[in-house]
Amino acid sequence: MTIDETAVDTVITAIKQSRKYRDTSEETIRQLAVEAVIEHKKPKPAEKAVRKRLHSIMAPYLGDPDYAEARRLLTDSFASGDGKIVRAACRDLMHAHLSTRERLPILDSFYEEIFAVTGPPRRLLDIACGLNPLAFPWMGLPAPGTDFIAYDIHEPRVDFLNHYFGLQGLPPLAYVRDVAVHAPVENGDVALFLKEMPRFERNYPGRGRALLEAIDTRWLVVSFPTISTHGGRNLTNRYRDFFHQLIDGTGWAVTELLFETELVFCADKTVADRA
Ligand SMILES: C[S@@+](CC[C@H](N)C(=O)[O-])C[C@H]1O[C@@H](n2cnc3c(N)ncnc32)[C@H](O)[C@@H]1O
Repeated sequence: MTIDETAVDTVITAIKQSRKYRDTSEETIRQLAVEAVIEHKKPKPAEKAVRKRLHSIMAPYLGDPDYAEARRLLTDSFASGDGKIVRAACRDLMHAHLSTRERLPILDSFYEEIFAVTGPPRRLLDIACGLNPLAFPWMGLPAPGTDFIAYDIHEPRVDFLNHYFGLQGLPPLAYVRDVAVHAPVENGDVALFLKEMPRFERNYPGRGRALLEAIDTRWLVVSFPTISTHGGRNLTNRYRDFFHQLIDGTGWAVTELLFETELVFCADKTVADRA
């Protein structure tokens, strides 16, 4: 199929110039632009379609800190040499994004319980990470000594996370990577895919299972919010069914952990390999 590359470039330029989506990875915009130009032919309706999909993919309504200020805050807090001040700064920053904000009340036990199931990872992947890498001080993992590999499609967020990793004594392994276009190739012990699967399946229907299968780690940790963002409805049963349907037939051994604000599944992929 021949694609109208000029129309694709017009759409990419328009989106990259927009205030709302200029921070989005070009890989993501290109992929959506190609799909939209194939469907809509002309740049204007294609641009509109890309914006609509980006609203759901980037979810700007979940919130962001001001990244320049956030860098300064972290630099100053690490300069204090006081672990309590660093944790307070990380907490404040995680408060800026709904997914991490909802996790703050359970943070003290969240990773402790997860790593009690999976074992502490030497190489940890965090897929569609948002601001979650700032939870590292609550993970009980050594720095240096841990490879924390994080992926997101928001460019300033990823830059900021590498700044944080540097301060924390971790290698700068945060990447701008659209995992719907290229599944992560890095291997590891545990992969986190927290609170993004329902949106991922909505944005890229039918591709959630393939992503989980492609991830090269022994353990997958997939989570869901227990309460809906808007209506306060309890979603635990719905998401439990959703997850078990998604991995039906894989043979993975699943351990469920239910926290007040988050439903977590730890899936051991090696059990299926041994069967
Ligand atoms: C709901 S937030 C969850 C953040 C984090 N996992 C947490 O639970 O704190 C979703 C994140 O996924 C990222 N994202 C969405 N689609 C993505 C994709 N195709 N590839 C990589 N990251 C993606 C968004 O930019 C956003 O930061």
